Amino acid sequence: MKKVGYVQTAPIFGDKEKNFNQIENLLVNVKADLLVLPELFATGYTFISKEEAISFAETSNEKTSQFLKKISKMTGAVIVGGYIEQAENEIYNSAMIVSNDRVVDSYRKIHLYYKEKLWFSSGDKPFKVYEVNDIKIGVMICFDWIFPETVRTLALLGADIIAHPANLVLPYCQNAMITRSLENRVFSITSNRIGEENRGEDHFQFTGQSQIISIHGENLSLAPKDEIFIELVDIDIKKARDKKLNEYNNLFKDRRQDFYYQNDN
Ligand code: ACM
Repeated sequence: MKKVGYVQTAPIFGDKEKNFNQIENLLVNVKADLLVLPELFATGYTFISKEEAISFAETSNEKTSQFLKKISKMTGAVIVGGYIEQAENEIYNSAMIVSNDRVVDSYRKIHLYYKEKLWFSSGDKPFKVYEVNDIKIGVMICFDWIFPETVRTLALLGADIIAHPANLVLPYCQNAMITRSLENRVFSITSNRIGEENRGEDHFQFTGQSQIISIHGENLSLAPKDEIFIELVDIDIKKARDKKLNEYNNLFKDRRQDFYYQNDN
């Protein structure tokens, strides 16, 4: 069995230290195998200019990675959490995967939402599955959910569980992830934030309701809409490796790729 969970937070825009402390306080005495934090958990979400977003960007060897290493050592968990990644001349909306004292990698959000397209470059690296603590972890960020190809790709690459940092503002994702888990027989953890941001012309109300979904589409955990919240559940991760639905159906082997739309360009 593996203990997996999420931390649903209320980030204060631009105050990394307070946002680190909020999470650290919630993790006192917590032990786990995998913990997922929200998208951009240390910075907030609603930037008003590219310069502002750049001012919060970091490489994977600065404050945010130090913090993630600290909480990974404290809890024993692999941590997946969102940050603004500075890489050469680009910035990305990324999620860092950290295990103990090691930055495993950063996933760069492939499908950018709304004005993220003004601040960030879209992800330029393929989806990947990371095997850490005997868990095969597929990583995606928030709006990636609306493209079913995302979870399908991660599942075909062998993911047992989808780690999904989010800052959700539309009311559809929580339901959609039930289907994504069910159709791919993968666990998923959506770690969302709460609260609102009013910045520039934009007003966002974040929807909370972080959740953990089983390979059968069951809700193993559902956080409130408007409270800081942490939850951990025990799951048998290996169940995600069997795609057999019944004696006759296997969700991967039954795919009829010859009949699906192929883009030959
Ligand atoms: C989103 O992708 N943060 C809506």
